[in-house]
Amino acid sequence: MAKLWGGRFTKSTDAMVDEFQASISFDHRMYYEDIKGSIAHATMLAKTGIISDEERDLIIGGLESILADIEAGNFSFEVGLEDIHMNIEARLTERIGAVGGKLHTARSRNDQVAVDTHLYLRKEIGELAVLLQNLQEAFLQKAQENKEVIMPGYTHLQRAQPILFAQHMMAYFFMLARDFDRLQGVYERTDIMPLGAGALAGTTFPIDRFMVAEQLKFGKLYANSMDAVSDRDYIIEFLSFASLLIMHLSRISEEIILWCSAEFGFIELDDAHCTGSSIMPQKKNPDVAELVRGKTGRIFGHLMGMLTTTKGLPLAYNKDLQEDKEGVFDTIDNLKFVLTIYAAMIRDMRVNADRMYNAVTHDFSNATDMADYLGKKGLPFRQAHEVVGKSVRYCIDNNKWLMDLTLDEFKQFSPLFEEDIMEAITVETCVTNRNSYGGTSYAQVAQQFETAQKMLENQQVVIDKYTQKGL
Ligand code: ARG
Repeated sequence: MAKLWGGRFTKSTDAMVDEFQASISFDHRMYYEDIKGSIAHATMLAKTGIISDEERDLIIGGLESILADIEAGNFSFEVGLEDIHMNIEARLTERIGAVGGKLHTARSRNDQVAVDTHLYLRKEIGELAVLLQNLQEAFLQKAQENKEVIMPGYTHLQRAQPILFAQHMMAYFFMLARDFDRLQGVYERTDIMPLGAGALAGTTFPIDRFMVAEQLKFGKLYANSMDAVSDRDYIIEFLSFASLLIMHLSRISEEIILWCSAEFGFIELDDAHCTGSSIMPQKKNPDVAELVRGKTGRIFGHLMGMLTTTKGLPLAYNKDLQEDKEGVFDTIDNLKFVLTIYAAMIRDMRVNADRMYNAVTHDFSNATDMADYLGKKGLPFRQAHEVVGKSVRYCIDNNKWLMDLTLDEFKQFSPLFEEDIMEAITVETCVTNRNSYGGTSYAQVAQQFETAQKMLENQQVVIDKYTQKGL
């Protein structure tokens, strides 16, 4: 296959070098963006008088027939043509003749690959935003379906204070809302148009970059040509968004895995989202949650990979930058899979309210409330803490829970205890009374539902805006 850049060479490329430096095996997935970018470029070249209208029509017709062939599976990508850009351009010239060679006027692969990647990632971010929002909705729905359920809240993985199961689910919701927010930031810095930067310094042709940006629906243009072709920050930011998201999902997964163990038994995952063992017939394993936890490795790896690849690179384009794509593609594929399955898994997860209630009523999670009771009667909190600590010690030694103590026993620890102590330390009271803003009380959690609903509505506006950017 003749090289599009073969003029100054007297020898053909070593076959292994061809294979080594080719990116077609992975960048072919940007064919749509490459063609849309070329159509916008050709349209602009004609509008500015750089090519004629007939030439433009031939070029666009050829590009559209190539697009149709690729989508029909009738296009073979050649390794010898290196990348998606040259595969398409070579085929164009084959189809429409020498005029195909005019498409690359006032353009370089450096700004071409940049515009393709910006367009591709912009589209994918739009799809990921929808999937992320679906997952947030699954957590909100699970919380609302179980809004009365009380469970132990943990610190150090030791039972700490009673909470609503919904409070726990909503913590996940708001965690993911920050991810959505971050994704929006990445979108903004992806929605910038590099085409027209040429190889690095702009072009001698009278191009109109603004016109190209408008056709491709870009919000902004790079103000500097060298920055345009060498910027990969938006990719690193995307991988950083993805790393935080998968880290969050990994934390959630860890809890799901614990909760569906026999020791906890707090939840049961649907059979459809679990797998069995080839040797132990009784097993039902939470493989999805485990695999999601495990995905952190490759996604953090892609982030580190890209940071390392770009570190110390001189301006402007360097072939090192071709390494930017596989990690992003792999991250997108995995996130789409993960977000979709996870939302279904959460929606179908069964909550074992009795197990949770039993766990929280058979422990000392109400100890803080007992101390708060004394605090409200005027005892300095430090002293109240000491009194309750002693009571807990007494209970442990006598095989009792705080709720089992008689009023006389309570009074041995402090004369401030009265009849109402019993009511003050039921888990229901513990939850109801944690009514500070953002706390676990029923009222505060109901407030969180409302806040979440508003957030989802605002997110939907953003998603609709992204959808309108489709090409
Ligand atoms: N395949 C290349 C990449 O992905 C396209 C740009 C190549 N430019 C060049 N001057 N070699 O980065």
